[in-house]
Amino acid sequence: MHVALFTDFHPATLGGIQTSVHAQRRGLERLGHRVTVFTAPTPESTEPDADLVVLSALGGVVVNGFAMVLPTPANNRAIDAAFAERGPIDVVHTQTTYGVAIAGLRAARRHGLPVVHTVHSRDDVFIANTSPVPYLSALTMRALHGRFVSHRGHMPRNDESRAARHAWRTMVAQAQAADRVIVPTEHFAQRILAHGLTRPIRVISNGIDDELLDAAQTSVPESGPVRTGPLRILWCARLSGEKRLLEAIEAVRLVENCEFDIYGTGELWERARAAIDAGGLSGRVRLRGAVSQAECLAAMATHDVLLFPSSGFDTQGMALLEAVAMGLPVVYCDPDLAETVPEGGGVCTRNPSVAAIADALRELADDPEQLVPMRKILADHADSARQSRLTEAIAAIYTDLVGGAKQTMPQPVPNVPTAPGRLPLLGHSVVALRDGLKFVTSLAEIGPIVRIYLGPRPAYVLTTPDLIRAVGFGEAGDFHREELRDAIQEVIRGASNVLSGKPHELRRRMIAPALRQRRLTEYAVVAADLANAWSASLAPDRPLNLVDEAHRLVLDTISATLFTAEFGADAKREVQQNIPWLLGQVIQRAALPPPVRRLRVVANRRFTAKSRRLRAEIGAVVTEYRRADRDFHDVLSALVRHSDPETGTRLSDEEIIDELLLMLAAGVGSTASILGWVWHEIMRNPDIAAELRRELDDFVGEGPITHDHVAELPYLRLVILETLRFWGPWVSTHTADGPVTLGGTTLPDGAMVVFSPYMIHHNPHYYPSPETFDPDRWFPGRVEEIDKKAILPFGVGSRHCPGNNFALMTITLATAALFARWQPVADPGYQVKPSNRDFVAAPSRLPVVLQTLR
Ligand code: HEM
Repeated sequence: MHVALFTDFHPATLGGIQTSVHAQRRGLERLGHRVTVFTAPTPESTEPDADLVVLSALGGVVVNGFAMVLPTPANNRAIDAAFAERGPIDVVHTQTTYGVAIAGLRAARRHGLPVVHTVHSRDDVFIANTSPVPYLSALTMRALHGRFVSHRGHMPRNDESRAARHAWRTMVAQAQAADRVIVPTEHFAQRILAHGLTRPIRVISNGIDDELLDAAQTSVPESGPVRTGPLRILWCARLSGEKRLLEAIEAVRLVENCEFDIYGTGELWERARAAIDAGGLSGRVRLRGAVSQAECLAAMATHDVLLFPSSGFDTQGMALLEAVAMGLPVVYCDPDLAETVPEGGGVCTRNPSVAAIADALRELADDPEQLVPMRKILADHADSARQSRLTEAIAAIYTDLVGGAKQTMPQPVPNVPTAPGRLPLLGHSVVALRDGLKFVTSLAEIGPIVRIYLGPRPAYVLTTPDLIRAVGFGEAGDFHREELRDAIQEVIRGASNVLSGKPHELRRRMIAPALRQRRLTEYAVVAADLANAWSASLAPDRPLNLVDEAHRLVLDTISATLFTAEFGADAKREVQQNIPWLLGQVIQRAALPPPVRRLRVVANRRFTAKSRRLRAEIGAVVTEYRRADRDFHDVLSALVRHSDPETGTRLSDEEIIDELLLMLAAGVGSTASILGWVWHEIMRNPDIAAELRRELDDFVGEGPITHDHVAELPYLRLVILETLRFWGPWVSTHTADGPVTLGGTTLPDGAMVVFSPYMIHHNPHYYPSPETFDPDRWFPGRVEEIDKKAILPFGVGSRHCPGNNFALMTITLATAALFARWQPVADPGYQVKPSNRDFVAAPSRLPVVLQTLR
């Protein structure tokens, strides 16, 4: 069997999980299995290891001394390449809850492999003891984890803090995503089951590598009369809060007749040293530093007792297993650990207090004879944690899963027809790029789901509103946007359009107040002023491209409403100068396959430099807004001032920059394109133009456009609705996060799902005579015939466009301002074509001359 082990802790670093994973690996190899370990980098240089694959870490981010890895596309590719190069993998075994393990889980899904997950540690207690802000840390960890692994499902309420609950959510989600779960002890199994795990779970103890143990046990003293002198106490663990080192030192201080050797390292080093100095203990308490497992075992042979005072944290405690194997009695505080220390092989203190620890130590120091029977009992259990006794049980789980997996391996999506016209290697990419609108429309009659190929990669196009809603409302399963994130991350790092699951839900709640009706009324005043000024600035009888004008006006309108305070002026200028180029790049990057994208070295460098400058400029404005602590009646004020009533969350500066940039990225091109199409349709339909003129004469006359006109031009509203139907977004893509089920068809993890509002809007089944531009179909009396589910210009469900009313407001005011003053006459020799480079098709050009009306 070939096992891929995924752990976030490099084997060369010290810790219980590392030791356990190492023992498992060696145990499996001794049974003739092959093991490839995927892990995070370590700053130390390490022995070469042909079966170790080191993934890339997030530059400079170190958490608790460990490099942080994310399941980025680059890491996914590295794993896929290692799988391909090393021959078939049979099973994936994840051993942590962080990025490397998540990447392992996802790789297993991509490759249709079964997953075993071992839950080693109590992250809830770890965070409570080591983080200065436990709630925030647990929430962040959960949010980050939830981006990649589903956190759905009910978790029963236990009596615990909100931080602990978030940490458990993450632990349970990771385990729930596996096919089988292993935990080292019964009490931990009960705990995780009480938190809602429903996956099959087995208790298999951690183990100690046989070779190491054989070598160490030769030095275990024969049981005989106890040595005289002070009690020799040993510490073998991380020097951190959850292990309670400072409490241990304090207890030792209270007991005179003892010595204390502390092996290990960690963030409490300095405080431990200070406690030793302050207590005048340097003669009998020694900080020995980090040691290997072999040295730790050797130290156990020369001490009288292991002190292990952690309480409520350890699920088993590697040092406890080692002490038992080395016949070293243990003083411990957590009654749950009695499962690991054989009865009579140690002392459980009457409670976790320093006084109780001191009492237990004092009793042993005063009467060391008590240690003799303890040693005898432990000697009977010396081999219980030998890895060779445990590996069979792990291998049996693998065999069971691999045998089972072969029978239940998902079939490659049966009964999904493939669109005609697929080319070797290129698939349908050429035709989709050449005439995307025609191509998607042609798919509707093939079936409810149609397979197309973008290059060699299959994608599944949904052709009915019901299936699209099943994606939008999460009924089909989970989806994510990793490829989009990868393409735009330098400029927009983690905004709502690339978040998924709970973090996405929370972010949408956080930005909603910025686009609420009350705010929109305020923005409409600004938008109306800009539209009037723009219309007045146009000149008659000169050639003009209305597509450029639409872009200019929409960019001005959106950027003007983002931040209005005087000190935002520089940033606004920066936005207006750079956004058009940057957005063009974002669109191109999102469309290009990653290898091609990476080849554009000069463009990439420029992209990164401009993005940085723009982010910095906007960041400075955010700082000013925080300082001013006032409502400037703009988007930025709303984002800075809002706190989520449910969680108390506030957006960070980076998140605010992301959301402002996303509003520009999602709002400018789409709104400008629809605006261009509205003008185009009015110009090419004289009846519509005449009707609109009558309405503008009645409601606007010669006066300027005001914000009230947004709600006062009913015919223009019908024209805009019909434009949104006729020229609605033509493509939206989502990547399945785990298998998804759509109308009885299950698509595999990683499947790309595509839908097109344009296609639905042009299907005669939902809209009679779909190729006729007919605003009257939205007229009361007729509009009732339209199936509401088939109205999709702003998407549906959790990703429904939050800027829809903003867009309608901008388009209404701009159109009214143009047609109230001018009659644009289109160049008769020019045919407008849709360009499908953005998710809303853009009119190529609209060459006109303007004639004065009055
Ligand atoms: C006529 C113009 C617009 C159209 C047709 C449009 C359409 C859409 C559609 C279809 C989506 C969902 C895409 C998907 O399935 O992933 C979307 C998302 C989004 N739109 Fe709009 N939009 C327009 C204008 C705007 C404006 C003006 C803003 C901001 C002020 C905006 C902000 C957003 C944001 C932030 C998202 C991402 C939502 C999420 O993923 O949760 N849009 N838009």
